[in-house]
Amino acid sequence: MKILSKLLVASALLFAGAFSLIAVQDSAYSAGNAIDPTYQKECGACHTPFPAQFLPKRSWERLLSGLDKHFGEDAALPPKSLASVKAYLESHAADTAMGSARAMRDVPTTATPLRITEMPFWTRIHARQIERHAFSASKITSAANCTACHRGAVNGIYEDD
Ligand code: HEC
Ligand code: HEC
Repeated sequence: MKILSKLLVASALLFAGAFSLIAVQDSAYSAGNAIDPTYQKECGACHTPFPAQFLPKRSWERLLSGLDKHFGEDAALPPKSLASVKAYLESHAADTAMGSARAMRDVPTTATPLRITEMPFWTRIHARQIERHAFSASKITSAANCTACHRGAVNGIYEDD
């Protein structure tokens, strides 16, 4: 029993450590990250409501046109919600004035990435975490689980304070 509770404390400390690593001064990523409530509800049901500003408009368009076959899930939306989500994503995409110009760096004009975790800016920022295999830790399970490391991700916040 004692060993078990020590282990629990140790793992809690490890998680606290991981959170405190996320100290970020650069506000370039947070330009347009206030998350639309309809989007948060409809696209945050299964995972973090990923920020619009981290994928180009063409990527959101392609994702939204295939929601019935969405990474092995049926994420189809009724027309009214779909229109609202589409308007939000397309007006805040990386390649718009509300988006993150830095997220577009090194994305070939011919590419339509469907994952933020495959965007060059993302893999660059997270190189150390990927190297350490942090993403296979039990509570994280996937690099797409932004909320596991970014407590504010549900509201589009990736800077820690
Ligand atoms: C029924 C559950 C479900 C709903 C609802 C859902 N998704 Fe997903 N989504 C998934 C799954 C499963 C994955 C793959 C996650 C993984 O690889 O860890 C995924 C992955 C993604 C990714 C790629 C993440 C990355 O960078 O690796 C994006 C972008 C995405 N979803 C956008 C959306 C949008 C936009 C909506 C709302 C229209 C939405 N999702 C609604 C289940 C869902
Ligand atoms: C395993 C933990 C982990 C996961 C999962 C994770 N991140 Fe991060 N993220 C970090 C760490 C740690 C940093 C700080 C990196 C550094 O400065 O070296 C960071 C930095 C960032 C930054 C830079 C913030 C800034 O203002 O410069 C952004 C943006 C970001 N992450 C977005 C995401 C998104 C989007 C997801 C999900 C698709 C995600 N992260 C998933 C750990 C994680």
